[in-house]
Amino acid sequence: MERMFGRPIVTQEQMRSRIREMGRQISSDYAGKDLVLVGVLKGAYAFYADLARAIRIPVRVDFIVVTSYGSRTKTSGKVKLVTKLTEEIKGKDVLLVEDIVDSGLTVQHLMKSLAKKKPRSIKVCTLLSKSDRRAVDVHVEYVGFKIPDQYVVGYGLDYQQKYRNLPYLAVLDQMDHQEE
Ligand code: IMP
Ligand code: MG
Repeated sequence: MERMFGRPIVTQEQMRSRIREMGRQISSDYAGKDLVLVGVLKGAYAFYADLARAIRIPVRVDFIVVTSYGSRTKTSGKVKLVTKLTEEIKGKDVLLVEDIVDSGLTVQHLMKSLAKKKPRSIKVCTLLSKSDRRAVDVHVEYVGFKIPDQYVVGYGLDYQQKYRNLPYLAVLDQMDHQEE
């Protein structure tokens, strides 16, 4: 087996218990509503699967694929939608499920684009937030963990498309990679 690496900053156990709480909160906030969970791929895939199963009300599931980063650890500020939704969201309550809100540009762009489809409401749920790095003012309703300005991988998050399958969240140390 390949060596697991990085300094874990959120363990599997912490992840599990926080996501359970978030699921409970969302279930009560959206009771009786027509909720569509829109996952932002690829990064949100692990969080999404766990969150959806922690929600105790019927939901519809949908996904969009976006690319923003390229291969570097800094935001390009440009967000490209690679796929469209398959579910009709008009008149429905949309919860956008993200892995991490960093500058906020991705979320801001997605909210604008989804708002055109006239959902009844649209809110954001993110596993992680680096609020110190926010460049635009976006309201994030549900935050799993606030983390400092460090590049993290695992639990869906990547560095150059790798490490998404780490079952915990780890800080990417300078020692572990060389940016080319
Ligand atoms: P934003 O548009 O700057 O808010 O960036 C959001 C996207 O950047 C996220 O969906 C992630 O894909 C990526 N991102 C930001 N910080 C990290 C990190 O520490 N590790 C991995 N991906 C990150
Ligand atoms: Mg990403």
